[in-house]
Amino acid sequence: MADNNTFGIAGLLGWPVAHSRSPVIHNHWLAQFGIPGRYVLFAVPPEKLEAAVRGIAALGLRGCNVTTPHKQAIFPLLDRVDDLARKIGAVNTVVVEKDGTLTGFNNDGNGFILSLRDADPNWRPDSGPVLVLGAGGASRAVVASLAAHGATEIRVTNRTIDKAREIADAVGSAVKIVRWEQREDALDGVALLANATSLGSAGKPALDISLDRLPKTAIVGDLIYVPPETPLLAAARARGNITVNGLGLLLNQARPAFNAWFGVMPEITPALRQAIAATF
Ligand code: ATR
Repeated sequence: MADNNTFGIAGLLGWPVAHSRSPVIHNHWLAQFGIPGRYVLFAVPPEKLEAAVRGIAALGLRGCNVTTPHKQAIFPLLDRVDDLARKIGAVNTVVVEKDGTLTGFNNDGNGFILSLRDADPNWRPDSGPVLVLGAGGASRAVVASLAAHGATEIRVTNRTIDKAREIADAVGSAVKIVRWEQREDALDGVALLANATSLGSAGKPALDISLDRLPKTAIVGDLIYVPPETPLLAAARARGNITVNGLGLLLNQARPAFNAWFGVMPEITPALRQAIAATF
């Protein structure tokens, strides 16, 4: 619903939302392109989600991002949800269509894949086996998107194995379930190691994994961006692997959302990276 002649508002629905860096990203782009508008935070408790979503079109918003705990709960409140978001089982972006109806997308997994390509243009989802640590919502977005982009062997390991099974059921035969105790064996021959657990984030213990069996050619991605370098990424970088933190996902998932809301596909510039870095 791009209309640069009117003040355009988009925002984030979540509970809590205060920690989000999305306003920095979208407001940077709005200023860069001289588009009158604002990206704002909407702290919406679960019991008010329905009323908030009903108001999105009425208030003239271009759309919104959706975060915890609303990514699944929003499904029945939307007019349509695209296939990948359905497979992921979560929506992270809502677009208000010209007729006022709401469409849900999930750009998280694609954003992660693009951030890996930014760091290593030679890497592709089908470059070789992938090992994904964790089986929560973030993992599911990454695994479904990797499969959609042609990954043929996605090893998924999780402390609670039933959640890895759920991802395999949703995504299909490319997913191979690995017991958590076997996670180091599963490093053999991988082209990508991705951490989608919360281990290594600020205030949490580090992941317990030796990288001895990880090929030096593998790229290592962590969905965490606070801290910017988790112990996993530090260990991987020290042995020569290319590493990527979760900021790349955040930046890359924002591009198609901004384009859908404001009609311009923005770039991830050094100035934007600096603006984000200044918030840490
Ligand atoms: P998100 O939405 O970010 O994916 P989540 O759904 O809470 O968050 O998932 C957190 C992930 O970190 C899960 O894979 C979780 O494993 P369980 O499914 O077994 O809970 C993983 N995780 C968190 N703490 C962990 C720990 N101490 N050891 C191993 N895995 C852990």
